[in-house]
Amino acid sequence: MNKIIQVAIDSPAAAGAGTQAKMIANYFNLLYLDTGKIYRFIGYLKIQKKKKFNYSLVKNEIKKLKLKSLDNKVLISNKVALEAAIIAKDPKIRKIVFKFQKKCAYKPPKKFNGSVLDGRDITSVIVKDAMFKFFITANIKTRALRRYKELRSIKNKISYNEVLKSIKKRDKSDFNRRYSPLKKTKDSILINTTNLTKRSCFLKIKKIMEKKLRLNGNF
Ligand code: C5P
Repeated sequence: MNKIIQVAIDSPAAAGAGTQAKMIANYFNLLYLDTGKIYRFIGYLKIQKKKKFNYSLVKNEIKKLKLKSLDNKVLISNKVALEAAIIAKDPKIRKIVFKFQKKCAYKPPKKFNGSVLDGRDITSVIVKDAMFKFFITANIKTRALRRYKELRSIKNKISYNEVLKSIKKRDKSDFNRRYSPLKKTKDSILINTTNLTKRSCFLKIKKIMEKKLRLNGNF
């Protein structure tokens, strides 16, 4: 490989982007950053710190943030997801996490062939010039069912209807917010995972990527 590979993925909540991003990262040996986890981390900080939550606290926490802190199970809850979607509307918060994401995307550790980031503004703001841009989606009921199963599997007591309501609320906020709204950029490839298994979806993405990498002489 002679150039680092960047994969940028945007998607609404629970569309399967994270699963695909991890599979892509494993197969192509790329650093994976789930950018939603950064907003969840800040949302969790807000829940914990209550009135002591402020921008300089967020700045300090992001400065010392290690990727493995984003694996913390507490970040998976529905409450944290909703708080994340609220703080994510704030341009000052987005500015604070901008550099962290850019560094992961453009300067991954040398052992990797590149990076894959997923989120809401990756193709439109963070890695605009990525070699690969995907918009991954699925219908809302499928998304809600997947998230419901995921939350139940980690013993989170929540009903399907609560999950559906929460995803609708986040969709509304993520698609319509003023700063960095979720959208499919013209140059992103649409992948609808509603009727695809994880494997068949990955094979589709892999085929697209390998074709271009071969043409570019990277593979
Ligand atoms: O991807 P995930 O569902 O974990 O993201 C949680 C929330 O963080 C989203 O609903 C969205 O409001 C916000 N987010 C964002 N920009 C990103 C990633 C996530 O605004 N790049």
